[in-house]
Amino acid sequence: MLGLSGFLAATLAFLLVWQYLKLRWLSRQYPPGPTPLPIIGGLWRLDFRMKQEMFTKIAKDYGNIFTLWVGHKPMVILNGYQAVKEAMYTHGEQLTGRPITPFVAATMKGRGILFASGHTWKQQRRFSMMTLRNLGLGKKSMEYQIQQEGQHLVESFVSEKGKPMDPTFFITCSVSNVISAVLFGHRFSYDDKTFQSLVQAIGFMFRFMPSPFRIAYDIFPRLMSYLPGPHQKAFGCLEFGHSKAKEEITNHKETRDPLDPQDFIDYYLDQIEKTKDDPNSTFDEDTLRQLIIDFFAAGTETSTTTLRWALLYMVAYPDVQEKLQKEIHTVLGPSHVICYEDRKKLPYSNAVLHEVQRYSNILLVGSFRECVEDINLLGYHIKKGTVVIPEVSSAMCDPEQWETPFQFNPNHFLDKDGHFFAREAYLPFSAGPRVCLGERIARTELFIFFTNIMRSFKIQLPEGVKHANTDPIYGGLVLLPRPYKICAVPY
Ligand code: HEM
Repeated sequence: MLGLSGFLAATLAFLLVWQYLKLRWLSRQYPPGPTPLPIIGGLWRLDFRMKQEMFTKIAKDYGNIFTLWVGHKPMVILNGYQAVKEAMYTHGEQLTGRPITPFVAATMKGRGILFASGHTWKQQRRFSMMTLRNLGLGKKSMEYQIQQEGQHLVESFVSEKGKPMDPTFFITCSVSNVISAVLFGHRFSYDDKTFQSLVQAIGFMFRFMPSPFRIAYDIFPRLMSYLPGPHQKAFGCLEFGHSKAKEEITNHKETRDPLDPQDFIDYYLDQIEKTKDDPNSTFDEDTLRQLIIDFFAAGTETSTTTLRWALLYMVAYPDVQEKLQKEIHTVLGPSHVICYEDRKKLPYSNAVLHEVQRYSNILLVGSFRECVEDINLLGYHIKKGTVVIPEVSSAMCDPEQWETPFQFNPNHFLDKDGHFFAREAYLPFSAGPRVCLGERIARTELFIFFTNIMRSFKIQLPEGVKHANTDPIYGGLVLLPRPYKICAVPY
């Protein structure tokens, strides 16, 4: 006779075999990929230590379009520049959806921009783009705010008097302040406790998104909602973010002049007024709160991490630092107010910054998209609702596109005469209709912050530290440098 444990074991074995056969059957409808196993799907094939080659290795076996099952969910992955280009440019419009998992549904509720799809995404994206332009995107007025913030960043480095320091805090504050000025019309002092808590809360969300607890929540949402764990903290962080956004909105409602909007919130409140009788309008205060969080989430960790890598590479490659500083000192001199246009006079510095973004390749996984209709992609029929990941980061280390894909080499962006030239496979901001909305802001702040620091300081390793470790660590959705200290010695 089978005891209870025997019966349970037999049932479990039966369920696993049944699930295995079901996955094998289902997988025939998708491009080939690693065999999906019950519970883990095809994750067994991932080598997380080798990020940049993580998908390339699988692509060698199955081709540049393959399916990776995450649990029982298929994800179609596109690897290499040609495949990514086909998805982003030829099928860009059909791939504008974002997958809505139970966690995303419970927290973002389809609002905002980052995790929104369809009509909401279109309306919010178009309005955000237009408002950023009204606020001076690409013009001197917004650039002036970034220059001011760049100055604060330099002053905070000066205050360290060349002693060993971790620059993360100062960089995070400066980057967040650029977004604060756009959204709220004011910046925060670096030691403002609310500001720090807001930045920390949003940073936590960023790190939490790809964590095992988030995946567990997506598989067992009901069960997980009762259990303790980091997912409960994530809910708390989001609530905190919403409450701070609400305070800002309330202050704006009391003080704004509807005839003279000053910042994103002012414009948005106007838009709510204008569209209040339109049944198709997606403009309301809840969505505004989510937009505020989305801007901070999308814009803080990304730019901060890039600048942290930039400074680390400067100590790892001192010859690059020396050449770059020579160019900045010769061309600009000590008192010129650096503007984005100056990149044209600084081909080497511009190439270095591009190479920092290419080589650090900070996104752990490319953009998550969902097909909004059936498509034919690289010879495969992909059904509406399928999750597709054009791995933009694979384009940035595609051996067919780059001379030395796995080396830090600013020459990737220089011709034989030392002139800067743009490369098609350089896609740190993604591409197509869902390309990064903050690309211009990010490019401007990266250039102005970085060149200001490099003009003012020689960046060195602390005494006794022999070499800079440039191996990345996982930081949620981005690849971070290991915590490090540098000395910013004033010139
Ligand atoms: C180095 C800095 C940055 C990098 C590398 C970066 C990269 C990206 C990438 C890869 C995406 C995904 C696009 C896709 O789905 O294909 C994205 C989306 C987005 N980014 Fe950025 N970003 C940066 C800075 C910023 C900044 C400063 C802001 C805001 C001020 C911002 C706002 C956004 C928004 C709102 C989206 C969502 C767009 C949408 O879903 O339609 N980003 N970014």
